[in-house]
Amino acid sequence: MTILFINGSPRRHGNTATLGERLLRDCPHITRHLADYRLNFVRDDRETSGDQRDPSDDYETLMHQDFAPASDIVLGTPVYWYDMTGQLKVFMDRWFDSFTHDFPFADKRLYLLIVGADQPAQKATGITTAVRESCAWLKMDFRGVAIVTADGAHDVADRPTLPTDCLALRHQFLSVGK
Ligand SMILES: Cc1cc2nc3c(=O)[nH]c(=O)nc-3n(C[C@H](O)[C@H](O)[C@H](O)COP(=O)(O)O)c2cc1C
Repeated sequence: MTILFINGSPRRHGNTATLGERLLRDCPHITRHLADYRLNFVRDDRETSGDQRDPSDDYETLMHQDFAPASDIVLGTPVYWYDMTGQLKVFMDRWFDSFTHDFPFADKRLYLLIVGADQPAQKATGITTAVRESCAWLKMDFRGVAIVTADGAHDVADRPTLPTDCLALRHQFLSVGK
């Protein structure tokens, strides 16, 4: 049982990263920041003789070394223009490459962390819909979302407590592998 936390923020030590590490404290996990990876936009090779795979960037390495062995995937994103960051969107678009090559998505448990400044729970609902429906399509088990309001880079670190949806996810993380 391995937990992989994927931080979709360009801030490696910002609110999303801090939220993930707070919720995963004492839970064995690995963290990957999408900002550390070169990820090209997805191609759509369905009508071409192309392979629907792009070996020229870091995507396949990330998927095979870290995503494939993980039983539990934690996706984190700040809200950017009421949606997920471009980094996470590009990464998720590339799942089509993996899907086309029978990547073992099925039965992985997936959790979503969202941090935004402007009422994210009310105004950024599209992120949860996109991730939940993508999980359904790929037969992953969507286990829930935690949403925190924060803006300055240390806001989450400075919060003495976290909302109850965070605590519910933490409870799930603590039970992974038990
Ligand atoms: C380019 C950009 C766009 C943003 N758009 C929104 C937005 O539409 N809604 C919102 O609530 N917060 C928005 N924010 C604020 C971030 O979501 C907020 O600062 C968040 O805490 C950043 O998380 P991080 O520290 O993990 O990067 C935006 C920030 C940036 C830099």
